[in-house]
Amino acid sequence: MNIRIKKLDDYGRGIAFVNGKITFINNALEDELIEYRLNKEKKKYNEATALQIFDLHKDRIEANCPYFFLCGGCQLQHMSFSYENTFKVQKVKEILKKFSKIEVNNLQIISKSPNHYRNKVTFTVNKNKLGLLRAKTNDLIEVAHCKLIHNKLNKIVEVLKVLLTKETGISKIMLRIGNKTNEVMISITGNVKDTASFLNLADSLIINGIPMNQDHITSYIMDKKFQINHCSFFQVNDEIVECLYQEIIDIIKNIHARKVLDLYCGVGTIGISICPYVQEVIGVEVVKEAVAAADHNKVLNGAKNISFIHSKVEDIIEKLPREFDTVIVDPPRSGLDSKTKKVLIELKPTHILYISCDPITLARDLKELKEIYRVESVKLFNMFPRTYHVESLVFLKLNDEVKL
Ligand SMILES: C[S@@+](CC[C@H](N)C(=O)[O-])C[C@H]1O[C@@H](n2cnc3c(N)ncnc32)[C@H](O)[C@@H]1O
Repeated sequence: MNIRIKKLDDYGRGIAFVNGKITFINNALEDELIEYRLNKEKKKYNEATALQIFDLHKDRIEANCPYFFLCGGCQLQHMSFSYENTFKVQKVKEILKKFSKIEVNNLQIISKSPNHYRNKVTFTVNKNKLGLLRAKTNDLIEVAHCKLIHNKLNKIVEVLKVLLTKETGISKIMLRIGNKTNEVMISITGNVKDTASFLNLADSLIINGIPMNQDHITSYIMDKKFQINHCSFFQVNDEIVECLYQEIIDIIKNIHARKVLDLYCGVGTIGISICPYVQEVIGVEVVKEAVAAADHNKVLNGAKNISFIHSKVEDIIEKLPREFDTVIVDPPRSGLDSKTKKVLIELKPTHILYISCDPITLARDLKELKEIYRVESVKLFNMFPRTYHVESLVFLKLNDEVKL
């Protein structure tokens, strides 16, 4: 049986209809004719595998990885990079329209290299096998090389595979590399018998949360220097993060922001980057180690007009000084909680810059914020090429009548 793909869903899967029921098919592009096998039949939808593809889409390409659709790391290797960018633009436009009734014309997406961009990867280890997990399962797919990660991390994978022939007590290995410094962090969970071999590989080796040498690596975003420890967030794509931060700096300069809140600030990267252009920044972050790194990064960059608070945003937002004109929010995937949104609407800062890695929660939050804010601009950043994820930056301005 063959079916024709109508369009792609938000995860890059082909959508078709089998006896009227929506059916999701991996590795299928718009208008392609697919010979399929159903592998999941649910009440409301089916999932299917493509067995043969006819009427190939003009942007279909040969997947550039032997583990594609096996390891769960990426989903879009079968389409050209330009098609991927168009897909992401279309997806965010549709989500914003559907969930927040916001129409964005001429939505721009900034993209750089689609390969070897990731500065961080976490492998699962099972006995002497190192790999990634098949999507939505605990099945370990052994990998020898990953097209998405920094080439130096791939070289470390080669050495790890040799070391792991002797090691059996490790369950996870996280690798991270610093931009410009090329310093490597290895963070291991499990029982490590041969610490010395790992020490040779890493500028910072962490075993079960305990540093065996340096507790951090250093990375750069533009001309700013940041120390990162093993439990703090740091954006994974060094090239794109610079484009994103440049856009944030441009907006901050344009609006002459003075007092800025940097909510969900991680190790202080955004706040410290905008310090030279504003009077004062306060950052808020829940991870204690990230706040300690942020305090250190402030000194490292000679930033005198920023301070950090260790707290959940929702627990502190009402107690913060009220005279902030600009609020930057960069929440996790879950977006803003209802209390934070409510207080933002009460506080009415003139500008909000919302950085989001999930367009659905972004659209949900914008629906509420747009009661008193208008969208000045939306820009996309392809922070996660070859996956369905995309980063958005939305710039909001308080409606004039609310200000009065
Ligand atoms: C997407 S990251 C952004 C970090 C930082 N702005 C950056 O660009 O590197 C989200 C951050 O929010 C923190 N976080 C998550 N929930 C939080 C909460 N309820 N209150 C404060 N921080 C939170 C996470 O630890 C993480 O550092």
